[in-house]
Amino acid sequence: MKYRIDICERAVFKLTLDLRQPFYPLLCRFPNFLSILKTLLLLHVINHCHEQYFIIGTLAASWTYVGSEDNSTIIYGEKVILRLEEHPDYSLVVQYKNGETVNYELGKIQSNDEGGQSSSRVIDEFVASIVRARSERNKIHCPCRRGRSISFIKSEVPGMNKLRIGLIGVGGIATTRHIPTLLKLADRVTIVAVSDIDANRASSVAAAFNIPKAYQNYEEMFHEIDAVFISTPNKFHAEITIAAMTAGLHVFCEKPMALTSAECEAMVSASKQAGKILSIGYHYRFMKEPKGAKRIMASGAVGNPLVVRVQAIRRRKVPGWGVFTNKELQGGGSLIDYGCHLLDLSLWLIGHPEPVEVMGTAYNALSRSPGQVNQWGSFNPDTFEVDDHVTAYIKFAGGTSLLLETSWSNNIKEDVIENVSISGEKGGLDVFPLTVNYAKEGMLFNSEAAWIPGEEDPSLPQAENFINACQGLEEQLVKPEEAWKVSAIIEKIYESTNLGTSVRF
Ligand SMILES: NC(=O)c1ccc[n+]([C@@H]2O[C@H](COP(=O)([O-])OP(=O)(O)OC[C@H]3O[C@@H](n4cnc5c(N)ncnc54)[C@H](O)[C@@H]3O)[C@@H](O)[C@H]2O)c1
Repeated sequence: MKYRIDICERAVFKLTLDLRQPFYPLLCRFPNFLSILKTLLLLHVINHCHEQYFIIGTLAASWTYVGSEDNSTIIYGEKVILRLEEHPDYSLVVQYKNGETVNYELGKIQSNDEGGQSSSRVIDEFVASIVRARSERNKIHCPCRRGRSISFIKSEVPGMNKLRIGLIGVGGIATTRHIPTLLKLADRVTIVAVSDIDANRASSVAAAFNIPKAYQNYEEMFHEIDAVFISTPNKFHAEITIAAMTAGLHVFCEKPMALTSAECEAMVSASKQAGKILSIGYHYRFMKEPKGAKRIMASGAVGNPLVVRVQAIRRRKVPGWGVFTNKELQGGGSLIDYGCHLLDLSLWLIGHPEPVEVMGTAYNALSRSPGQVNQWGSFNPDTFEVDDHVTAYIKFAGGTSLLLETSWSNNIKEDVIENVSISGEKGGLDVFPLTVNYAKEGMLFNSEAAWIPGEEDPSLPQAENFINACQGLEEQLVKPEEAWKVSAIIEKIYESTNLGTSVRF
């Protein structure tokens, strides 16, 4: 049976556990909740709290239970984030606000579904009582019998109001990804306004999505919003980010971060000065295979990465619309537009080592030849000024090397090849499909993941992570310093192409 339940309760609660109540033994019947309780007790010890009550502080509670795909319960707290994961290795992850993460192993979580989803009823009941509590007594029943309950006393915390969002540049990606995704999160955000240099476009998008305001000049909406989504051509990412940061806004900026490393540096420094979140749209990190690969890397199964192969290759798919082939507005072609995603993913997986030297070669002979077959619209070969196929070799401090091939258009037999393949000292992995390669008992094995938790579409987790980060509930996954590193490498690949030699950092 495949079903899915998404319940998100984001009201703010103050949690007080009254341990004078004799419910503790009853909780033993429910190992998953018991684990949370144990952790809370542990936190109590860590915090040297000597009160009669265990005051956990203010909780901004967010509970998600997704049967059959990603069974997890998450509690966002003042000091910690508790994540109870039920698949695949039954762990409780406690993420402290200072960045420290502690992983507690649990026994197999008890199921009270007959042969069905693990522990669904236990959590369902719990979540249902949270939802009920919203409208009723502010009292939440934990999954223990005989009506015993834990009190969540509702309190207000500044910053937990809906995030007011404006979008700048409302073309393809804003209207197909960001606006529809943000509308799904209407309990957490309000889209206040859109802005586009093309005034007609701004007003028609506002009308189509029922957004109250439309501006041509983005600065006019700054006073009425908390955060912006920037989806303009690449050339404007830096200047708009810096303007928004200066106005005290959080910024989600589409990829690539900017055209040059110097622009990225200025964006990072503006974000530091403003003390606001800056995140970049490297959405591959929110896909389930990469998330699984990150866990494999963290487990040590691959060991120290030696050689990384990155492929982001399309056969005859130059985006023939918009400004993708305009060098001035985009800064390049296949590498800066498409290769950047897989390059970012690979650097994240290997822990962002420092690059030391780059050798790159960029091509566009194919797209500059007249009469090309192209699957994604048409373009003028005479004015085609960006790269359509790029290869690069990158050396990192510590000895890891990375081979990159990216292309919008070439003559391979496959339609698309997208992969990051890491060969390490202990084993290897491929991200698409997620496979771990290793030697055991004198034999060689490739084990492909049969099931990976997570969403098919990374848009929602990406937006949620940004919103959580703005509200101080979660660390942002894509940090600007990391996206800057991607842009710095891309810049060096182009520089190496122009010079015809390798270049050092
Ligand atoms: N994450 C992804 O996979 C992904 C996919 C597509 C595009 N993108 C990125 O999103 C950005 C936009 O791409 P797109 O495909 O939506 O392009 P698009 O051309 O469809 O839309 C860009 C919009 O920005 C507006 N604009 C141009 N200059 C502006 C300015 N100075 N101020 C305000 N608005 C301005 C244009 O009028 C247009 O409506 C690019 O940086 C691109 O790399 C990311």
